[in-house]
Amino acid sequence: MSADLEPKQANYSQPMTVPVITIDGPSGSGKGTIAHRVALKLGFHVLDSGALYRLLALAAQRHGFSLDNEDALEVLAAHLDVQFQDNHGEAMLILEGQDVTHEIRTEEVGAAASKVAALPRVREALLQRQHAFRESPGLVADGRDMGTVVFTDACLKVFLTASAEARAERRYKQLKDKGFSADLEIILADIRARDLRDSQRAVAPLKPATDAIVLDSTALGIEAVLAAVLQEAKKQSSLQQFFA
Ligand code: C5P
Repeated sequence: MSADLEPKQANYSQPMTVPVITIDGPSGSGKGTIAHRVALKLGFHVLDSGALYRLLALAAQRHGFSLDNEDALEVLAAHLDVQFQDNHGEAMLILEGQDVTHEIRTEEVGAAASKVAALPRVREALLQRQHAFRESPGLVADGRDMGTVVFTDACLKVFLTASAEARAERRYKQLKDKGFSADLEIILADIRARDLRDSQRAVAPLKPATDAIVLDSTALGIEAVLAAVLQEAKKQSSLQQFFA
């Protein structure tokens, strides 16, 4: 999929008939992997909403904006020059003409993203861009507030969680496997700090939607989580045709 993320018209509205599955949860819960696998199975598009906040944080740093300057960040969010391009099945993220796919994945950019994400007007400015991903035949959206704010009419809402220790260990292993040095205690402290900021902010805090299915992946592998999500998806009448 290639989505041009230029801001849409002010009267842009989402095509409500296109089915959406939301997968929310804290960092490291595996929601990104699950979102991609579910989308692949159903032939749906994917929205990695965290990437938008990461792109904005990186742009803010490059332009020298303070991460709590809501006025400047609101304008930047509304005019953010980003593209999500398909690179052999992997999303390639372009910021102001430059490939930043790997750069936005650092812990530093993640922490900065969580700071800009706490600003209400920034979230509002990114709303239409997220709605623009709702395209036929369907969408799997992952983030923190997909089911509670952005796609409240989603036909299936999943909240995927895991203990902070389990998430830190997964991240530690990922970094080690890639040949990076890593410190488990620092990763755990970062995860706890980000969880706290994400769940205690005033707007769109990290919490399950009242109609979400909560899955704890602490003791479950990816395949077991995927099977559980697909089993729930199969029960939804609007999704049955995609399993044929
Ligand atoms: O999911 P990811 O770790 O890439 O997200 C980076 C940060 O962006 C999160 O820590 C969170 O603060 C913010 N975010 C958000 N709402 C979303 C997705 C991400 O506030 N829907």
